[in-house]
Amino acid sequence: MERKFWLLAVLILLTANVFATNKKIANEPDSAYLFAYNANGLRFAWSLDQQNWTPIGNDYTFLKSDYGRWGSEKKMITPFLIQGKNGLWVCIWSLNDRTLQFATSSSMDLISWSPQNYPYVNKGKNVLRPIIAYNRNLDEYTVTYVDGNGKYFQTKTNDLIRYSSVKEVAASAYRNGSTSVNLSDTGNGQVHRLPWKVILGLKKAHELKDYKYKQDRETTKDDAQRFAGLKNVEAKITFQPDKAKAISNMLTGVFFEDLNYAADGGLYAELIQNRDFEYHPRDKEYNDKSWNSSYAWTVKGDRATMKIDSVSPIHPNNPHYAVLDIPVAGASILNSGFDGIALKKGETYDFSLSAKLLDTKRMNLEVRLVSDKQGILAKSNLNITSNNWRTAALALVSSADVADAKLEIVMGNSGHIAIDMVSLFPKNTFKGRKNGLRADLAQTIGDIHPRFVRFPGGCLAHGDGIANIYKWKNSIGPLAARKPDRNLWGYHQTMGLGYYEYFQFCEDIGAVPVPVIAAGVPCQNSATGGGGQQGGIPMSEMGQYIQDIVDLIEYANGGVKTEWGKKRAEAGHPKPFNLKYIGIGNEDQITEVFAERFTMIYKALKKTHPEITVIGTAGPFFEGTDYEAGWQIASNLNVPIIDEHYYQSPGWFINNQNFYDSYDRSKSKVYLGEYAASLPGGNRTNMETSLAEALYLLSLERNGDVVSMASYAPLIAKEGHTQWDPDLIYFNNTEVKPTIGYFVQQLYGQNAGQEYIPSTMELSSNQENVKKRMACSMVKDAKTGDLIVKLVNLLPVSVNTSLDFNQQQLGKNTIKTVLAGKPDDKKAVPVIANISTEATRQLELPAYSFTVLRFKAR
Ligand code: AHR
Repeated sequence: MERKFWLLAVLILLTANVFATNKKIANEPDSAYLFAYNANGLRFAWSLDQQNWTPIGNDYTFLKSDYGRWGSEKKMITPFLIQGKNGLWVCIWSLNDRTLQFATSSSMDLISWSPQNYPYVNKGKNVLRPIIAYNRNLDEYTVTYVDGNGKYFQTKTNDLIRYSSVKEVAASAYRNGSTSVNLSDTGNGQVHRLPWKVILGLKKAHELKDYKYKQDRETTKDDAQRFAGLKNVEAKITFQPDKAKAISNMLTGVFFEDLNYAADGGLYAELIQNRDFEYHPRDKEYNDKSWNSSYAWTVKGDRATMKIDSVSPIHPNNPHYAVLDIPVAGASILNSGFDGIALKKGETYDFSLSAKLLDTKRMNLEVRLVSDKQGILAKSNLNITSNNWRTAALALVSSADVADAKLEIVMGNSGHIAIDMVSLFPKNTFKGRKNGLRADLAQTIGDIHPRFVRFPGGCLAHGDGIANIYKWKNSIGPLAARKPDRNLWGYHQTMGLGYYEYFQFCEDIGAVPVPVIAAGVPCQNSATGGGGQQGGIPMSEMGQYIQDIVDLIEYANGGVKTEWGKKRAEAGHPKPFNLKYIGIGNEDQITEVFAERFTMIYKALKKTHPEITVIGTAGPFFEGTDYEAGWQIASNLNVPIIDEHYYQSPGWFINNQNFYDSYDRSKSKVYLGEYAASLPGGNRTNMETSLAEALYLLSLERNGDVVSMASYAPLIAKEGHTQWDPDLIYFNNTEVKPTIGYFVQQLYGQNAGQEYIPSTMELSSNQENVKKRMACSMVKDAKTGDLIVKLVNLLPVSVNTSLDFNQQQLGKNTIKTVLAGKPDDKKAVPVIANISTEATRQLELPAYSFTVLRFKAR
């Protein structure tokens, strides 16, 4: 991947004296000493005399360990650095005192490091203080480690990937050679003598990082100082229709993940929590004792009890059910929903349950909606008469608006009864679908006019450990036959909102479905499987895994006579869902394990379904090892699109608007699958972050020939259950609360174009900081012929624009939409006005604003 031009410019500036001119500074040394040491990662210090040492960046790490769960276990212990084959630097380190694994990574320049490997060994108690040596004559590396019992072991490798079987060796084989230097708190490390230009390269790498770090930290809080004395700015914008280019017609979409109670308790309209009695303590890693099969249920009545059983369940995938022991008629069970059940006066609610009698001939049930304050809001009766599992249903109409009702099922007889799949849905789901979605939330998402919907994640797609990888087949078919699972975000997935419902939702809002399937590896931060590291589906199971992906294409697109197409038709959708895209992998760590499995899946899909566009993955950041290695795989395999993710500060988005300008157009296209601007602390999303996103989206439009798709992430979050902040839309049981960032997405979604018309901008100020905060883009909507101009002003002063349309034909009327406010506003909404096109030629853009002009076609 080519570096961005501006970054290159900065680098050249910073290194001007040395690299750019290739001139030596007078009295510059030929070589110096480098001390490699550990402080939460690999750090360096340099010295000319081995007496006086200078750290390169006081707290700057050149390599960090990627092993283990989110942050907490990612430790680099006793790193050991050598120079091996052909000058390759190899670093080896210990991971913890439990695992029979060590870590290695390599680099040619000590700046850019290879993907990390975590080879397993089979001897010793653990792997402590591993060291590595290279024998040039044998072209062989030897790894020696000591274990907790004080025994020494050795293994050999030629390629740092495949290792010989481990042998126990004498203590004398362990020749560490580490030393300490005269530098405070650094402990032991390795000293190497290097050409001075290598040390300079390290210093410059740190300086560049530092420079970028300062840019990233830029916020509007410093605007008064940054723009002191700045008066209103004049901007002359000239459009260049002769330079128009085609851009993606899929540019903005949405990213849906079941995180923050986005599905169960959120978009999925089911009102009963734990309807299937399948909640399990492992959903919360056994940290919450109340989180079990009875969660959200209570029993009321004389000696009445509820037990959980699993003998002869309704379906093997749904093994638990409740057994009610009712000694005296009139006892009841209650479900408190997800933070209560919200009801609307006059609305109908569809109740159903599955039940079987255990020792009585009949059980009369009175089903009620009740509120602590308002008593019974609705009730109706049904009879259970079978001692086999049967489903019964009825409808209830609420007599009042209530935010925190409960469902109560009153037993009209004594005896034992088993119940499962207790469900309550509003009749008024989105588009009236059965097993459907919450209408207000779904509508809010639909109003963005997303071109596509990505689902089911995010990390949820690749799961916490191999067993937790999301399996689409578990999410279709009758609800009782779906296989619930632990949600890696610390709760429970019923799978009620499954692949069928996702496809249906896409169709209902006119969006293209973009399912993301794990690349045969779980989340790199997994707690289970692979000793805290990624691991991968065993090769012997990859054939079936790939077949499952092929079956998904048949489920979505196959004829009704095909095995999987038939299932879709049985679910109520004989017509195909028109699946065109599949993402393989989600910001995975790009290891050998990943590469092998991704390549297998990619090649198989290319062969069996060349009509499907596969989206690859380039790790969780906009730079670094996974980004580079992910791109390398994509380039080698000619993967059509690659998924990039980055969550950054507003300063980053402002200063990186040319990120894609230099992307090679002949390589893979980009899907910016997850991004968001956020501020540290409480006010993570506001006008400032939203305008930074609007500004950056202009740069995506400008690069719409290489950036095919983009989706802000995450999409929705339930108040009180938010694991990830910020999000685009917050909600509770009764309200939907779009953020300002939501309106930015909506303005893009509703004003998309397929042709980009470049422009030049002359500003009355020459300040770089001013130029970066004012941007414009024009697109043409091919369907309507409308021309759309988007203008972002992230300055503290207004900008007077004069627009030169360069003889483009415009209609008389224009819709002007303005989103403006103070940087820390959290509540602004767009203001829409119909104005004459003439009035747009001279326009004042308010300070901190996003303006969209839609010129109706003539
Ligand atoms: O969007 C939230 C999470 O961020 C996603 O699950 C994951 O892909 C990323 O790390």
